[in-house]
Amino acid sequence: MKWIKVSSYEEMSKVACSIFVKQLQHKSNSVLGFATGGSPVGFYKEIVKSYQAGEISFDHVRSFNLDEYIGIPSNSPASYYSYMVENFFQHVNISKENYHLPDGNAIDLKEECVRYDKSIEESGGIDLQLLGIGVNGHIAFNEPGTSFASLTNIVNLTESTRIENARYFENIADVPTQAITMGIQSIMNTKKIVLTAFGDKKVAAIDQLYSGKITEDYPASQLLMHPNLTVIYGSEG
Ligand code: F6R
Repeated sequence: MKWIKVSSYEEMSKVACSIFVKQLQHKSNSVLGFATGGSPVGFYKEIVKSYQAGEISFDHVRSFNLDEYIGIPSNSPASYYSYMVENFFQHVNISKENYHLPDGNAIDLKEECVRYDKSIEESGGIDLQLLGIGVNGHIAFNEPGTSFASLTNIVNLTESTRIENARYFENIADVPTQAITMGIQSIMNTKKIVLTAFGDKKVAAIDQLYSGKITEDYPASQLLMHPNLTVIYGSEG
């Protein structure tokens, strides 16, 4: 396990990017795991720059995102699909068949969860996974109390997560109440994990992780059992 303390959001983004660049230079057909939200926006900017500078290519990359809302069209500006296209996919040479998000509009959502884990497995598994962390310790949409054994599944979003994510919607009532998310075990199955957290709001979440106590009340704590975890963290204060 590696803890890297940074002094700015930009530095966090650059350090995370450098790990992905190294991964791609070492294995051009890597399977990458991506996250959405505020934490990785700077990371995507950096990795697009590396692509534009000719340091890396996404020609042979396959990717899987952690999660997607249930019940909003994928072309809605608030969907994670739109976020990924806007922040990343449209700027690099990854082909549409090679990037994947759970389908929050599948007719059979349970079947979609099984299909998603299966398609990760068939890709050979995720080589490098990017994560953010919620103020309550959630990873992906695995809220406190989630079983550490969980695979991709349908979850009810907590009120605190809906309030946190309301910034991407016109009002709180528009924030979906459910999502499909990779489970804790699906995340633990990835080969390497980079967790990013920056800002005063995340200090308590990182302190709790650092304390070393592993409990299902704090989903991120299971990451302490992962054989290859890097935490890149910092705050303004
Ligand atoms: C996003 C995701 C979430 C976020 C977390 C932190 O795909 O899975 O777990 O990583 O909610 O969000 P930000 O980065 O917006 O603070």
